[in-house]
Amino acid sequence: MAAKKKKEPRGISEKTDKDILQKILKITEDIHNISDIDILLDKILFEVRKFTNAEAGTIFLTEGNNLRISYTQNDILFGKSISNRYKYLNHEIPINETSMAGCAAFTGKLIVVDDAYKINPKEKFIFNRDFDNSSGYRTKSVLNMPLKTARNRVIGVMQIINARDEKGKVVPFSEKDEIYVSYFANDAAIAIEKAITTRQMVLRMLRMVEFRDPKETGGHVNRMGAYSVEIYHQWAKDRGFPPELIRRFKDKLRIAAMLHDAGKIAIPDSILKKPAKLEPDEFSTMKMHTIFGYRLFESKDSEIDAMAAEIALAHHEKWDGTGYPGRITDVMNLKKLDSAPGKTDLEIPVTGRIVAVADVYDALVSKRIYKEPWDESRVVEYIKDNAGRHFDPEVVDAFMGVYDVIAAIRDKYTEDKEQEEQAPNPDSVK
Ligand SMILES: [Fe+2]
Ligand SMILES: [Fe+2]
Repeated sequence: MAAKKKKEPRGISEKTDKDILQKILKITEDIHNISDIDILLDKILFEVRKFTNAEAGTIFLTEGNNLRISYTQNDILFGKSISNRYKYLNHEIPINETSMAGCAAFTGKLIVVDDAYKINPKEKFIFNRDFDNSSGYRTKSVLNMPLKTARNRVIGVMQIINARDEKGKVVPFSEKDEIYVSYFANDAAIAIEKAITTRQMVLRMLRMVEFRDPKETGGHVNRMGAYSVEIYHQWAKDRGFPPELIRRFKDKLRIAAMLHDAGKIAIPDSILKKPAKLEPDEFSTMKMHTIFGYRLFESKDSEIDAMAAEIALAHHEKWDGTGYPGRITDVMNLKKLDSAPGKTDLEIPVTGRIVAVADVYDALVSKRIYKEPWDESRVVEYIKDNAGRHFDPEVVDAFMGVYDVIAAIRDKYTEDKEQEEQAPNPDSVK
């Protein structure tokens, strides 16, 4: 199919097939335990690039007749900074024979190119140089692997770019690379399909909340998930937590943070949609969304549920003890929220301390019916000023440490912000 010559294996040649297959089996086992789609795509790309020794890679997922860039890594361009990466996400290309990835999805076949600038003119696909031209990157060897589910449906394409030899020189992908990537791709596709289903279930549930409270838009919840994992990553790194533990925690945190306000589903419309400031008794009913959220997810079976319950309950607590719902003794049977002593500092779980910063940040930078978005410097000042009062000072440090990434996420999801103007937010910082 593709413009490629058969080459001797390189990069992985010094390892035995058995070692590599064992490694792939282990990775396969790991990826089946990941629930969050973004964490999963990150892990898949990272591992595939490791065993092919490739500089960069992108995972496209199928959306209708198009492929959408859903995850991208590039050691040369992005290095350790991931803020730049966000600007390339969501770009779409059609599924047809005009591009390498489009052609892999269209035909369901592996496409391997030794040099993207010297594609055999007999091929129908061409290499679009726009990305290279705008970024200064030089794409050379490219492997495009369709991701097929057990029912042979193409759910996306994994594109791996610029294999390198032991000296770091960019070389064509070897036959062995193709075999191992093909082998791994089957399991990757099944894990991706499962994670997409999980994400869709979560989004469906969030849509139900959105019907009730139009302020809880897809944009807000997506930003909340993304901000929270970035803040956690920095916080955990500062403490020297092992990378695998950080990854597992983030896997649960993204989904659980998205569900922080799901308890609002049980709050009456008269309060949820009131276009004015809430009376004290109405506000005390509104505060019950923390308890309802906890009850919704309280479960011993799933770690994500347990974390979602914890966040729902803790995201309005404040470091200095002035938040709510406070120290409740019987969460499952509580009918009304009377003021309980607030939880303070480390009594509040770190998930709640992180989501609190993310939620207030997002409320302040977004336009709401009763307020214009605050400008960045004012928001940053506010967050810093509230370290030790509303917020955990160390979480604020972590937030500041990844501020460029947070701002990139906010820019990426701005398209949903307009919708948030439709309804007031009686539950946010004034
Ligand atoms: Fe809330
Ligand atoms: Fe929120």
